[in-house]
Amino acid sequence: MLKTEIQKLIEAAIAQLEYSYVPYSDFRVGAALLAQNGRVYTGCNIENAAYTPTNCAERTAFFKAVSEGVRDFRAICVVGGPQGRLASYTPPCGVCRQVMMEFCRPEEFEIILAKSKEDYKVCTLKELLPQGFGPENL
Ligand code: THU
Repeated sequence: MLKTEIQKLIEAAIAQLEYSYVPYSDFRVGAALLAQNGRVYTGCNIENAAYTPTNCAERTAFFKAVSEGVRDFRAICVVGGPQGRLASYTPPCGVCRQVMMEFCRPEEFEIILAKSKEDYKVCTLKELLPQGFGPENL
């Protein structure tokens, strides 16, 4: 991906931190998912008093896209931190990696972990979920 494309996703993910609903952890996460059609689907984490219904930022973005008929993706950017301070990278949790596995080619789908527009690293889903179980295993 071009650096300008990456930076656009980072900006979109950071903008989501404001909407993050985190009364229990105070850990804000924002995501920006780039579809093959060029559209960007954003997401934030949404917590719940019963804890387990909490939805991660990444899954919010994926489910927004899929619920609008979009299933082909290029990349996702994830940012997060306590009180929304981006002190370190926020890698996707295992459940979110599995959701990515459902819709993305692991060797091609890029995951951008960012602390700022200049400080980021890019990895593939294959790197974060080696030997993952996906639709092709059924
Ligand atoms: N969280 C995400 O939104 N994405 C991740 O990949 C890691 C965890 C959220 C869930 C919860 O609201 C908070 O971060 C602390 O776990």
